[in-house]
Amino acid sequence: MERMIVMVELKNINSLYRLNNGVTIPCVGYGTFRTPADVAEQAVADAIAVGYRLIDTATVYGNEEAVGRGIKDAGIDRHRLFVTSKLWNDHRGYAKAKQAIDETLERLQTDYLDLYLIHWPANRKQFGDQAAEINAETWRAMEEAYHEGKIRALGLSNFMPHHVVELMKTAEVAPAVDQIEVHPGWPHVEEVKYLQAHNILVEGWAPLGGQGAKVMTNPTMQQLAAKYGKTTAHVSLRWLLQRWILPLPKSVHKERMVQNTQLFDFELSDEDMEKITALPNLGGQCADPDEVDF
Ligand SMILES: NC(=O)c1ccc[n+]([C@@H]2O[C@H](COP(=O)([O-])OP(=O)(O)OC[C@H]3O[C@@H](n4cnc5c(N)ncnc54)[C@H](OP(=O)(O)O)[C@@H]3O)[C@@H](O)[C@H]2O)c1
Repeated sequence: MERMIVMVELKNINSLYRLNNGVTIPCVGYGTFRTPADVAEQAVADAIAVGYRLIDTATVYGNEEAVGRGIKDAGIDRHRLFVTSKLWNDHRGYAKAKQAIDETLERLQTDYLDLYLIHWPANRKQFGDQAAEINAETWRAMEEAYHEGKIRALGLSNFMPHHVVELMKTAEVAPAVDQIEVHPGWPHVEEVKYLQAHNILVEGWAPLGGQGAKVMTNPTMQQLAAKYGKTTAHVSLRWLLQRWILPLPKSVHKERMVQNTQLFDFELSDEDMEKITALPNLGGQCADPDEVDF
């Protein structure tokens, strides 16, 4: 790995981490999963207006064009934003990945991505002995785009440590980020430890538990929210931040977008951090990337 991720003082959602290739990234981002295309343009423009600079989308969300329009509508210089997208599973392998990158750039109406991720690793369950080679070939296409200036940082999503170890056998550019599911009830303690020890910034998807999880209504979370005079959403997001995990909360409602930025006027005690980490499973997707069929 080239450089340490600098553990900075986090003062607001746009305090920066430095990735292992020197590129800086805001410490909180805005998610767009399940935001339909007809809502995404306004939602993204609103998110930028209330202060978010990191926008997270993916080809499979079907909203890249609308996200691109939202970015344009916001009227902010492209270089002040940090835009992430992800390669979907039907475009794995060298040739298809190259095509996927160009198509994403076109849909987002931008010349470059700040970060591009492999959305899910090809797994042995579906691809047997070929899985590792497929991931390596996808990565090779991404490395080319990186060297061509189309992507400023390369990363992974839903890669567990053993997938990272496998990828590193052939990778020339080390992954800068791994975006995995992290929320109360699904802490991924060992995985986060491994990734951070290897200078890979962990982004937490579904930091509020995602749709239908019981994170917001859990009694311990509610007690802690009352103790700190904050909401359960605040407590959840703050717990990620204090573990140096970059949360990507999603909301299409402006007041919640704002609420999800108000994370810097309180600090969870070590004891309360541990209490949250110890919570039982509260729902969420909680998928094992080696077992998924998509
Ligand atoms: N890499 C991956 O495989 C992967 C998978 C899933 C997600 N992601 C990324 O991570 C982002 C976040 O994950 P997610 O969207 O699944 O879940 P999330 O952000 O944990 O939760 C979103 C849900 O919480 C609600 N919500 C938002 N703020 C709230 C608040 N302050 N109080 C109460 N409810 C609130 C939202 O409703 P409203 O919108 O109605 O406000 C929505 O139903 C995604 O949008 C996407 O960018 C990545």
